[in-house]
Amino acid sequence: MRAARIISTDGPRSVRIEEVAEPVAGPDEVLIDVEAAGANFPDVLMSKNQYQYKPELPFVLGGEVAGTVREAPAGWGFSPGDRVVAATTTGAFAATVAAPVHRVGLLPAAVDFVAGACLPLNYLTMSHALVRRGGLRKGETVLVHGAAGGIGTATIQLAQVLGARVISVVSTPEKAEFVRSLGCEEVVLADEFKDAVLALTSGAGVDIVVDPVGGDRFTDSLRCLAPLGRLLVIGFTAGEIPSVKVNRLLLNNIDVRGVGWGAYNAKHPEAFVQEWAQLVPLLSFTPPLHRTYPLEQAGEAVASLEERSVLGKVVVLPRQLS
Ligand SMILES: NC(=O)c1ccc[n+]([C@@H]2O[C@H](COP(=O)([O-])OP(=O)(O)OC[C@H]3O[C@@H](n4cnc5c(N)ncnc54)[C@H](OP(=O)(O)O)[C@@H]3O)[C@@H](O)[C@H]2O)c1
Repeated sequence: MRAARIISTDGPRSVRIEEVAEPVAGPDEVLIDVEAAGANFPDVLMSKNQYQYKPELPFVLGGEVAGTVREAPAGWGFSPGDRVVAATTTGAFAATVAAPVHRVGLLPAAVDFVAGACLPLNYLTMSHALVRRGGLRKGETVLVHGAAGGIGTATIQLAQVLGARVISVVSTPEKAEFVRSLGCEEVVLADEFKDAVLALTSGAGVDIVVDPVGGDRFTDSLRCLAPLGRLLVIGFTAGEIPSVKVNRLLLNNIDVRGVGWGAYNAKHPEAFVQEWAQLVPLLSFTPPLHRTYPLEQAGEAVASLEERSVLGKVVVLPRQLS
């Protein structure tokens, strides 16, 4: 089968399209014919050996899929022909992938494969973040950085559906326009976000900050929190991992909370199935698609995330001929 492989960790454009052996499903794995695979920032990091999980070279890039079951172990409720999604960590940019059975969910008939491929990583991370880690309550205000990206758009759509007010932070007017098209009217530019957020909330601040960006905006994010507010640490697309002076937490009765969805699920194998069952009834929205790429351009798809040019999500179609 054809697959997009990392053979040297020189970044997304070092991806090679190669003919490789089809995976063989182990006793706890589902063999899935991949129709669509989501590209995510962790793929950028893995292509440069900068992610917390460091697969041995060579490896097939891509961490989430939507597709059709070819083989499944008994007792999990999956049969050949079922439409499913899965979180795979690697292996998704290929015609077929073997996914751990506890990280597979049935895809509702109303959701197409491309939309399905956008869901597992970002939407389950943000459900874990907002609900389990953030304790989001209806009527609270959520501030989200990198709002036009994959995690950002998942935050907007989920927080809105959970009854929150959302304020978005983006770097350009084009991204602001895009975020407004998702129904998030309150958008501020990153350069001036603290004062703008405090003005929008009449000085009260927000209940939750979702931060997938890190870097130098972290302290101003803490300054945007209302008393009992929570800052959710999701990632560091800006490159720098911020540090926190804990007196700020004491003085304002605020929390900084880490969110590691993969780490949580590794210790709680039952979590994916429960989280997927909670997400499906909320799917009154469609994840915003920037564009799809054929397998030959998988490296370009991932590079577009690093280049900060994506509005929403990019998806690789491993079975589409370019
Ligand atoms: N903790 C978890 O469990 C978990 C799960 C999934 C993903 N993540 C992490 O979440 C982060 C976001 O992932 P994603 O897939 O949503 O990424 P994405 O779609 O590429 O979006 C990231 C956003 O970050 C902003 N950004 C700021 N500085 C940037 C830079 N130097 N390079 C690129 N983007 C920059 C961009 O928005 P502006 O241009 O508007 O600033 C961009 O829209 C990553 O760090 C990823 O590893 C964490």
